[in-house]
Amino acid sequence: MKPLLRNFAGSMQNLAESGPLLRDAVQSRNLRVLASMLGPAFRGLFQQRGRNEESTPMRLGYSAQFDWRYRRDQPEMARLYEAAKASQWNASTDLAWSTSVDPESADRPIIPDAIVPLVDHPAYQRLTPVEKGRQRRALMAWMLSQFLHGEQGALFAAAQVTSAVPWLDAKLFGSTQVVDEGRHVEVFHRYLTTKLEKLYDINDNLYVVIDALMTDARWDLKFLGMQIMIEGLALGAFGFLRAATQEPLLKQLLTAVITDEARHVHYGVLALQKFYATALSPRERAEREDWAFEVAYLLRNRFLAHEFYEEHWAHEMTRPQWDQLVLASGMMSLFRRTMFRRIIPNLKRIGLLSGRVRARYARIGLLEYEHLRAAPDLTAQDLLDDA
Ligand SMILES: [Fe+2]
Ligand SMILES: [Fe+2]
Repeated sequence: MKPLLRNFAGSMQNLAESGPLLRDAVQSRNLRVLASMLGPAFRGLFQQRGRNEESTPMRLGYSAQFDWRYRRDQPEMARLYEAAKASQWNASTDLAWSTSVDPESADRPIIPDAIVPLVDHPAYQRLTPVEKGRQRRALMAWMLSQFLHGEQGALFAAAQVTSAVPWLDAKLFGSTQVVDEGRHVEVFHRYLTTKLEKLYDINDNLYVVIDALMTDARWDLKFLGMQIMIEGLALGAFGFLRAATQEPLLKQLLTAVITDEARHVHYGVLALQKFYATALSPRERAEREDWAFEVAYLLRNRFLAHEFYEEHWAHEMTRPQWDQLVLASGMMSLFRRTMFRRIIPNLKRIGLLSGRVRARYARIGLLEYEHLRAAPDLTAQDLLDDA
């Protein structure tokens, strides 16, 4: 197919698949949620700006909040800030970049065959060992590319919440997250370009979530979308890949990133817990619940690995067939469980999993994680064990 036609076909398929998302937003009668998602959904799913443009300007309409009283009145946030200062690392000197990496190695696979969604499919089983090595490398490059794009989003979102959050202790911690995220962009980009030598475009669903939280004027939605949802999910995914890979440099890199990410998720919980319990009207709370659900839905779709499918399997099967295969594969369901096991308990902890949205989470198979542990402690070992 010609690129233009393929783009158009991809746009239409994206729109068809986002049907349930828009339907839910309409059914919940929450027009503000629908309105806040429509622009990002149009730009991400239809225009596919993340993959069609070299750079995308986003207009930001939020208020920075200056604090002239400088009250240090949030001891838990202050403790997190101290932990962040004591845990800084240097991406160029603290990781073993001289490690020689063979991303297609069969002896020390970068990702186990079992994680490839097609592992039981005859078409995959027919591949030679060399071709399987190439597939593992591509799939890992696809996953890490999405993390890189998410890290760029986190860098900008952290800068936004640092200026927008009203409390000084939260601003001080935010300043450390900005530095952390800059480091994460650095390490994922370096690993992808110098070790895997492959970089994939941003997934359309991930683009929508990033666009939505960046352009929304409400500061708490930035925390909700980034620290609670995207970073909660990334923390689970990093832990999963760290345990699964046999490539030592990647293991070391993920270990270092996980300790930072756990602080960021904790930051989101601290910022929103009290605010949502005290400062929101029932209508405003309902809006946040619906918004979080739409984001969970988009993030769940992100892991269908369509960019990997288009490159390697589009000649072999249709996209609905691929989706069905991925959703049914045992390893992908384990992967999803690992990722959502932190988001759902944290949504509950900040008060956004009330009776009115539980049925919707149950319908997309995400409610089962609600009783898992919500947030890790702050010691590095705990974070690693927990991730
Ligand atoms: Fe990060
Ligand atoms: Fe982060």
